[in-house]
Amino acid sequence: MNKIVAIDGPAGSGKGTVTPIIAKRCHLVNIDTGATYRCVALAALRNHLTVEDEEEIIELSSKITIAFDEEGKVYLNGEDVSSEIRGKEVTQIVSPISSIVAVRKNMVDLQRKMAEGKDVIMEGRDITTVVFPNAPYKFYLDASLEERARRRYKQNQEKGIDMSYEEVLENIQKRDYNDMHKEVGSLKRTEDAIYIDTTHMTIEEVVEKMMKIIEGD
Ligand code: DC
Repeated sequence: MNKIVAIDGPAGSGKGTVTPIIAKRCHLVNIDTGATYRCVALAALRNHLTVEDEEEIIELSSKITIAFDEEGKVYLNGEDVSSEIRGKEVTQIVSPISSIVAVRKNMVDLQRKMAEGKDVIMEGRDITTVVFPNAPYKFYLDASLEERARRRYKQNQEKGIDMSYEEVLENIQKRDYNDMHKEVGSLKRTEDAIYIDTTHMTIEEVVEKMMKIIEGD
């Protein structure tokens, strides 16, 4: 059986930072599931759709092609959209778009297909509960709201994304609520997932702790 490492946690908990590092060191294919929802959101924006246009968004989500390369770049219909999907506009609408049940079904199918026959590390909100509930390695990463907002604010500044700390905090708070109250695929901490509070940990500490478990057998 192929190796599956499943990671869930709220925005800014460290998943997106530690996952590519572990992927490289453990020779696992990295599948960023949040990026798949971000691609749907970007496609919706480009088609001048709003979150109310559910039917059109569902249809769009079944038609677009999404791919990752080995460096972690994200391609929507063949175009590199790695930076654009992290921008303010996409970030503001991605959570409600990811709440549309039929969009989730399309993305979960796609994510499972991407993992077929490969050793993968996959991070998101419903990986340990819906996408791969039987994964042999399950983690739930967490951190305080303020720390998560501080991290995301810093990342945005480095990428030239113009959002104030207050805007980032408010956006994360809204997304937390949305992500935890979805009809399907809501963010939940399961008993069998290893819980790691990263608030006071360095990136390397989190990576080492997880790798010890993944490579410990
Ligand atoms: O991890 P991220 O910030 O790139 O995720 C973007 C949005 O997609 C986030 O609001 C939650 C949603 N998401 C989801 O519903 N299920 C996943 N497996 C991953 C992300």
